[in-house]
Amino acid sequence: MTFSATSKSVKFDPFAEEHDHLRDILEQIQLQLDDRSIPRHDILVAFSELHREALEHFVHEEQFDGFFDNIIDQAPRLHTSAKRLIAEHMRFLGDLQTMQDIVARSPANRWREWVATQYATFVQRFCQHEQAETELMHEAFYQDIGAED
Ligand SMILES: [Fe+2]
Ligand SMILES: [Fe+2]
Repeated sequence: MTFSATSKSVKFDPFAEEHDHLRDILEQIQLQLDDRSIPRHDILVAFSELHREALEHFVHEEQFDGFFDNIIDQAPRLHTSAKRLIAEHMRFLGDLQTMQDIVARSPANRWREWVATQYATFVQRFCQHEQAETELMHEAFYQDIGAED
């Protein structure tokens, strides 16, 4: 049973690595927003990278035999929780697009405060989302396997 848990958890390592990578980008943007010497263009580039990497991560999670498929296969009772997390992906991408639009088009000196406020909320929700995914994975694999022992 322990071997089974270990071999399955290896399957989730790429998602943990992607979570770490996304967290690094989130922190980088926070630093850039805090530093008023960083020009708008550089922040736009960073937001574009975050949007691209987040989209790629969400596709990996939602695709056939991806993160959520494996969780639901293992623990069908978690289907509703998985669907709720999947639905959040589109909202995150929409929020990112809104912030990118503000950075790109808002009047000088106003955009930074507007985006910083929205960004703080976004980061908090995004981290909660990733934490909920980690907990779901543990609930699917470790609780079920423990119950089988
Ligand atoms: Fe996700
Ligand atoms: Fe994720």
